[in-house]
Amino acid sequence: MANEVLPVALLASVLALAGVLAASPSLSAERRSGYEDMGPAIQAMQRDDAQNPATLWVKEGELMWGTRTGRAQRSCADCHGEAERGMKGVAARYPAFDPALGKPLTLAQRINQCRTQRQRAEALAPESDGMLQLESFVALQSRGMPIVQQDPRLQTHRDRGEALFRQRLGQLNLSCAQCHDERAGLRLGGTPIPQGHPNGYPLYRLEWQAVGSLGRRLRNCMTGVRAAPYAVDAPEMTDLEIFLKWRARGMAMESPAVRP
Ligand code: HEC
Ligand code: HEC
Repeated sequence: MANEVLPVALLASVLALAGVLAASPSLSAERRSGYEDMGPAIQAMQRDDAQNPATLWVKEGELMWGTRTGRAQRSCADCHGEAERGMKGVAARYPAFDPALGKPLTLAQRINQCRTQRQRAEALAPESDGMLQLESFVALQSRGMPIVQQDPRLQTHRDRGEALFRQRLGQLNLSCAQCHDERAGLRLGGTPIPQGHPNGYPLYRLEWQAVGSLGRRLRNCMTGVRAAPYAVDAPEMTDLEIFLKWRARGMAMESPAVRP
């Protein structure tokens, strides 16, 4: 955990010391995937599924897709058919509004709804291997498709997410926007600050040596500025995710991507 926290914190203090944070904002109107900020070796790893370690998670997720489980003894495939068709484009429009619950659900929460209500199986723990495997497999079916976030019922959540994005956080007193809007593209000690888009998640991060969720990435950024991160299933995390997806609307999904 400690060394996950270090790079962003370190970077922020170096930035502050260097006076870069006082520099004038240089937000480019162009949206740029974190993929563009990576070196050629890691880009190649993401482009080739045989090299992308996330493929191991995808394969496990594919097995789960076809496995009958729970008291209902139904597999995902029994109801949804081939994932290539049944799950095409789904991840590109999550979090989505659930009318019955009157609130948005993340893709992981939606998958768990089918686990518990349709398969009548135990919910998968958030960010457990099983959940990341299924989520990676489902998200893969949206690869290359544009992110869509326009359900008007998500508006209040998007607004709340945007407020969180602009609010200063932690001992370093920095907002997400100060790094990802105003300082995106700046490079310090070889680490570029990306625009902070959610289009590759879940993804394999070399630093984690594992596939992780968008939530895990956001918690890293929060602890990086020495803020107490929100809990895994906190509504604030969903609201932030909705805003990030809206901010990245139209960008191509890369899941499961690779990051350093
Ligand atoms: C001090 C600057 C800083 C702050 C503040 C910050 N981040 Fe980040 N963020 C980074 C850096 C640097 C990276 C990527 C490098 C790394 O791996 O640490 C990153 C990565 C990300 C990514 C992953 C992008 C990708 O392509 O995979 C997302 C999403 C993100 N941040 C969102 C946020 C959100 C939301 C907040 C506010 C809660 C936030 N960040 C606060 C510096 C920051
Ligand atoms: C018994 C049948 C059944 C099983 C088994 C089942 N689902 Fe579903 N699932 C449904 C139905 C029906 C819906 C649509 C409900 C609705 O429209 O509100 C749905 C909706 C979904 C959605 C949302 C789709 C969207 O367009 O928003 C996802 C994601 C999903 N299921 C994933 C899964 C996964 C992953 C599994 C296996 C772990 C699974 N489902 C197992 C019946 C099932």
